[in-house]
Amino acid sequence: MADPKCVIVRDPANGREAELPVREGTLGPAVIEVRDLPSRLGYFTYDPGFVSTASCRSAITYIDGDEGVLLYRGYPIEQLAEHSSFLETAYLLIHGELPRPAELTRFTEDIRRESLIHETLRKFFEGFHHDAHPMAMMVGVVGSLSAFYHGELDIDDPAQRYISAVRLLAKMPTIAAACYRHSVGLPFVYPRADLDYSENFLNMMFSVPSLQYGEDAQWYLDPVATRTLDLLFLLHADHEQNASTSTVRLASSTGANPYACIAAGIAALWGPAHGGANEAVLEMLQEIGRPERIPRFIARAKDRNDPFRLMGFGHRVYKNYDPRAQIIRKACHAVLERFSPADPLFELAMRLEEIALNDAYFIERRLYPNVDFYSGIIYRALNIPVNMFTVMFAIARTAGWVAHWLELKADPGQRIGRPRQLYVGAPRRDYLPPAAR
Ligand code: SDX
Repeated sequence: MADPKCVIVRDPANGREAELPVREGTLGPAVIEVRDLPSRLGYFTYDPGFVSTASCRSAITYIDGDEGVLLYRGYPIEQLAEHSSFLETAYLLIHGELPRPAELTRFTEDIRRESLIHETLRKFFEGFHHDAHPMAMMVGVVGSLSAFYHGELDIDDPAQRYISAVRLLAKMPTIAAACYRHSVGLPFVYPRADLDYSENFLNMMFSVPSLQYGEDAQWYLDPVATRTLDLLFLLHADHEQNASTSTVRLASSTGANPYACIAAGIAALWGPAHGGANEAVLEMLQEIGRPERIPRFIARAKDRNDPFRLMGFGHRVYKNYDPRAQIIRKACHAVLERFSPADPLFELAMRLEEIALNDAYFIERRLYPNVDFYSGIIYRALNIPVNMFTVMFAIARTAGWVAHWLELKADPGQRIGRPRQLYVGAPRRDYLPPAAR
């Protein structure tokens, strides 16, 4: 049997060598296992931002950034977008296989049964001022779910891990809609048994008691709205070891309560370089305002001395078009035609994309629109406030976060995550009394 593939690292300073094993995956680059490097050669590896570092083995999602490929458990995102639903895709991410009809029915019932939140939890919202950012409320309220389920959770029991995953997936839309209702001073709306996942979310967001406001037109249950939202949830469900998923994995590796781990993921997602970009794209488009102002923003994006970045453009992995952005761009047309014909921001976004994609700066750096570039256009057409855009992302990404949590907890080889560093601080020195400083 051929020796497993290795690479030899040689230190020219002393001639010492380390034979490091190479591990092959199903798809994508192989990896060099460096865990023995410190003991063999006395070095750590150094990779700020983990640009070239594989943090784990995973079978959930595969991305080919050069080819613009995204697979959920081997299925191309384009096929799932066309044929699947968010809940069916969430089942796929969690279990690894597409559900048979009876399995999907059971999973959907499990989610429905857990979609209510404890009445006491509703009181948490009263602690937030009405203009609190919904992501601040999400981090706090989702983290507080730990208090409701901490005692009964045996993380080593797969059945209880599954219940926690279902609870989180089920309660996110209810909590998210409650954040919005609190911010606009409307009473909370409960999930209904006769509505599906995306229908329920939009109903909890926008349904108003008819006696107060007259018959509401229930526009939010229009199939164009509910199916497009379901598609957006599906497209945002998972994305390999992105910053927020890596945060969930690191928190999970300590054995922390899953509700606390997902709250950590929500916090990481909030940043404008990550999930907060969809909110930042809308604000950027509103600031640009008119096509004739695009060149000055493109110039700012190219100016090293200007911190301004073209929000919704560029990606750590995709050096080609983000396949999700292409699907969302197409979905924009149906929603805008139905709810917001000739939305000037959509025209502006397409013009901005056209100009950027023909500019040498963006071409040389392989900067393309990412998932966040068009999603906000759809959310806006669905009357979702801009400060709720990242909350939408968090609802969807909970499917991926819980799938990675379950995968990590089921891995017998998983250990607490604990990176090292290149220390550049002061050398050892002795304490000086104040008079001697
Ligand atoms: C998401 O990881 C994931 O999978 C994330 C995500 C998911 O589903 O989980 O896909 C979701 O977070 C999408 C990304 C959303 N963020 C944005 O749209 C914010 C704008 N984009 C940039 O901040 C940036 O592109 C990042 C953060 C997305 C990627 O940053 P990197 O990999 O650190 O890129 P980089 O800084 O190494 O950029 C390389 C060059 C630099 O120029 P030079 O130093 O070579 O001259 O490209 C430039 C950057 O200045 N550049 C940009 C730019 N993005 C990169 N210049 C202008 N505008 C931009 N948007």
